[in-house]
Amino acid sequence: MSEVSKQLKPNLYLVGFMGTGKSAVGRSVANRLGYTFIDSDQAIEKAAGRSIKEVFDSEGEAAFRKLERQFIDEGHVSECCVVSCGGGLIAQPGMLDLVRAKGPVVCLLASAETILERTKGSEKRPLLNVEDPLVRIRELLAEREPIYKKSGTEVLTDGRTISDVASHVFRVYRSDARSWK
Ligand code: S3P
Repeated sequence: MSEVSKQLKPNLYLVGFMGTGKSAVGRSVANRLGYTFIDSDQAIEKAAGRSIKEVFDSEGEAAFRKLERQFIDEGHVSECCVVSCGGGLIAQPGMLDLVRAKGPVVCLLASAETILERTKGSEKRPLLNVEDPLVRIRELLAEREPIYKKSGTEVLTDGRTISDVASHVFRVYRSDARSWK
């Protein structure tokens, strides 16, 4: 692939809290672009040979965050991919800059209530496996809001279909990719 065409096809990074639809929307956008879809959580599970829950249970959250950093640094293809990033991936120090250097970033948003509804009973979200997940969601959202806000174009997802959000994200990416160096 020539340098010019490479520049036109940077990866798209989808960030945002758990349950904002990053994976479903990411798959749909990847389809429309003819790109490969990558889910950071799945890639990490594959590389580690363990589920996210197992990593959290046996080694703790810090170990999982290291795996996320490795994934961003060296664990994925650098062009023609839509990458859905785990909700806490850019919340670690320095991670947003690393991600932003690799391609356009779109941040999906949803209210705490919508997030609760969409994440109920999920095994891959140990952080929400607490007595009152809504309180936890609100705390984490407040903690992460500053970083989400400066990550990239924000797209609201409450009450919208995957297809509608995907069309929106597709348009943002096409425009961002045009000016990507
Ligand atoms: C996490 C989000 C999860 C997963 C892990 C931690 C977080 O990914 O990486 O449970 O810290 O917000 P999704 O955002 O894809 O649910």
